Amino acid sequence: MKNSMSKILVTGGLGYIGSHTVVELHNQGYEIIIVDDLSNTSLDVLKRINKITNSSINYVNLDLKNVEATKIFISENNDIDGVIHFAASKAVGESVDNPLKYYINNISSLTNLLNELKDLNKKINFIFSSSATVYGKPINVPITELEPIKNAESPYGNTKQIGEEIIRDLVNSNSNFKAISLRYFNPIGAHLSAMIGELPIGVPQNLVPYITQTAIGIRKELTVFGNDYLTIDGSCLRDYIHVVDLAKAHIKSLDKLISNDDKNYYDTFNIGTGKGTSVLELIKSFENVTGNKLNFKIGDRRKGDVAECFADVSKANKFLNWNSEFSVEDSLLSSWNWEKNINNEKL
Ligand code: WQD
Repeated sequence: MKNSMSKILVTGGLGYIGSHTVVELHNQGYEIIIVDDLSNTSLDVLKRINKITNSSINYVNLDLKNVEATKIFISENNDIDGVIHFAASKAVGESVDNPLKYYINNISSLTNLLNELKDLNKKINFIFSSSATVYGKPINVPITELEPIKNAESPYGNTKQIGEEIIRDLVNSNSNFKAISLRYFNPIGAHLSAMIGELPIGVPQNLVPYITQTAIGIRKELTVFGNDYLTIDGSCLRDYIHVVDLAKAHIKSLDKLISNDDKNYYDTFNIGTGKGTSVLELIKSFENVTGNKLNFKIGDRRKGDVAECFADVSKANKFLNWNSEFSVEDSLLSSWNWEKNINNEKL
């Protein structure tokens, strides 16, 4: 089996993007161990991953904030070759209300993990789950990796900026580490089996889960947060990327790190489709692919939203040999199939 010699640790591997990445890692023949503290997911996701992959992926319940537990885990798994680090809190709004939770969870989990990996004194390929939010309000769109990093718009975004800097500085100081930070734009969609997807916990803050919950009747109507922006139809443009395409970008990044002999290699890549879609265009697409008329109204702008945010993905295309393959319509249909599956309703 290809890559069976490489053991990959996936932190937060039972989360939305983590679970899809574990499936793709398995498909490529990697040996995998998942850690997750189940703070924002459930063990049911592991059962679903095992069903999709027809296997039994190794999993350990671990809170990376716990220094002692992390030390023991890494000492018992000192043959790790690569790490994909998803484990973090990721709700922008919550981070504004409770910044300390985000700095404690997102930063100390990362520093504890890196500190134990460093003490293994072996080559480590590290991939960091970052976000386009590190750019703040973009000066130019489409956004390239040269876009200036500005003051973060939220404590969540700041933890991603700080995380990138911690990893960059570690790589510069320690030739055992090579790393890539992937800056995600707007992940949407679900695995084609409709067995894993974005777990609905509380009222969705993101657009697509709110759309599918409105369509299935859990929410009464969607509010479009403003249609008076200077865009094609007045609503905000975003770069909606299928979560499976995003997962595959992690595999390509791992391949890149494993094959790359440059000492102290560190780089960042935008992961998106390279295409901007407005909220109103997305609603229209959803109605077209599902045949459901969506109940929505136009409301006030949401604080902190920018008019346009979509990626220039030429660097990832060229240097990771990666490109998105699914269309926004594919993504929306997969989100809808996932919504129907978890509600066990055949509308
Ligand atoms: C998309 C568009 C809203 C909900 C966020 C995080 C970012 C990343 C991805 C983690 C915006 C509009 C939304 C609704 C609406 N997460 N909208 N009605 O804000 O682009 O990015 O998720 O890394 O860090 O900031 O995504 O889905 O919240 O909003 O009109 O009920 O949909 O105004 O224009 P966003 P989103």
